[in-house]
Amino acid sequence: MSQSALGNYISILAEHRSRLENISLGDLFHSDPDRAQMMSVEDGTLYFDYSKNRIDGQSLNTLCELAKDANVEEARKRMFQGEKINLTEDRAVLHTALRAGEGPPIIVDGNNVREQISEAKQQAYAFSRKVRDGEYTLGGQAVKDVVNIGIGGSDLGPVMCTAALEPYCNGPKIHFVSNVDGADFHDTTKGLDPHSTMFIIASKTFTTAETMANANLAKLWLSNKISSKDIGRHFVALSTNLEATAKFGIDEDRIFGFWDWVGGRYSIWSSIGLSLMIAIGTDNFQQFLDGAKSADDHFLDRELEDNIPVLMALIGIWHRNIWGHSSHAVLPYDNRLLRFPAYLQQLDMESNGKQVCIDGDNTKYSTGPVIWGEPGTNGQHAFYQLLHQGSDIIPCDFLVAALAHEKDQAHQKMLLANCFAQSEAMMLGRSRQQVVEQMHPDIDMDLAPHKVFEGNRPSNTFIYQKLTPFVLGKLIAFYEHKVFVQGVIWGINSFDQWGVELGKQLASDIQPLLDIDGANNNFIGHDASTNSLIAKYRHLSRSDTIPK
Ligand code: F6P
Repeated sequence: MSQSALGNYISILAEHRSRLENISLGDLFHSDPDRAQMMSVEDGTLYFDYSKNRIDGQSLNTLCELAKDANVEEARKRMFQGEKINLTEDRAVLHTALRAGEGPPIIVDGNNVREQISEAKQQAYAFSRKVRDGEYTLGGQAVKDVVNIGIGGSDLGPVMCTAALEPYCNGPKIHFVSNVDGADFHDTTKGLDPHSTMFIIASKTFTTAETMANANLAKLWLSNKISSKDIGRHFVALSTNLEATAKFGIDEDRIFGFWDWVGGRYSIWSSIGLSLMIAIGTDNFQQFLDGAKSADDHFLDRELEDNIPVLMALIGIWHRNIWGHSSHAVLPYDNRLLRFPAYLQQLDMESNGKQVCIDGDNTKYSTGPVIWGEPGTNGQHAFYQLLHQGSDIIPCDFLVAALAHEKDQAHQKMLLANCFAQSEAMMLGRSRQQVVEQMHPDIDMDLAPHKVFEGNRPSNTFIYQKLTPFVLGKLIAFYEHKVFVQGVIWGINSFDQWGVELGKQLASDIQPLLDIDGANNNFIGHDASTNSLIAKYRHLSRSDTIPK
């Protein structure tokens, strides 16, 4: 939407803030017994509670009007229909088509992408079945270990989902190498048998420096034990760059393609999900896609006021642009969602971490917040101090399952109790009067201010029955659509990532300088700080400076 239209809404919403600043969250609940019910949305076995935000009916109405005025409904339609809404890269944005199943044609550049998707999916499904059934062999042996080499969207989706769906993992063991730090490859492959290890090289572009370096290292690692004529079978490629995959030496029948209209951070639904398919099997993977499809239907069909991703987005705008909160914590009370915050970091921060509008002008208003988090209850014993009593307010998303996969539900109850307690404590806090009343008369009253929790700290909570493939697919898709709606309102293109280019370019300029013999440091050619770091490296890496 235009910056001036957004500015008008920000002014109106600021007035709502002034009104609400004088009412505590606790009072909002007292004055409206239906608040929890009114400010929650159910979708199947998943329940989204946003009542613990400092918001009321009036401010919510204005936020929904903002979404309407920003043409979120129209933008949503254009994305799902395959219009080229990624203007700076002249691409459609169709990760939703990857999970859409059958239906009327979706045409991009004259091709029906539904047909393309179905063909590619069947090819990937057939291959993953063969690997799981031991029909695809390496020198006569079944595949025991699969190493996915990729980075960013070609890693975070598979690694996060494989951990999240561990109870469904009954195929070969899946490992991940992403970092160009040689320690990652070394530590991951330590103990693996090259004879029964298959590498998946996952890279949309097949040019990403880190992935190519690790893919070449994999060739070397195999070549110590496997004859060169047999090495090819140990590699599979997932990419849109079929020329580069062929050049790397991967046979066509082990190349699983996708298309430029699948963004890296939205690619888990495409052949980039191959490692996950191999881990959990195709039926479960299909469930995962179906869960995402059900979130797509929810996003398309529900009124804005009752639409989970739209509400997530609007509450985020409320926190970011009206209350000035610059960070947002994601706190899964679900240990298997360990990498979910990292996954959302790429999804949200690579999409909306921008300050240029689609028309090329700078934005006048803040855009994407810092996303971060860790599973509870571990986070409680690390950084929650700041969440409760720090000088900045950090809105939180809590996520928790009603049921564990494990037989013993006692742990799960403890987990749930902690999750509910934390959001309640953040919201209600503890006043000085309550502290004094609760303190033993012998205790030093000077301690009282340290024990005060000001409260009014906002949060959303997702509770779902169990973390199944279906539920995980649904959750991810809700977050995807949240990011999309915010991008539409902020007037930015959520689907490019020019901000990652400069660092990549400088790294390739700097790398040759590290190879030059350390003697001549007089002129290296970068800024003074970088020059001296390069010089320091040259000195520290010289054999005569390494301590014996
Ligand atoms: O970090 C930038 C980026 O382009 C991400 O958007 C992408 O997910 C990642 O690099 C990996 O890219 P590729 O799949 O092409 O190797």
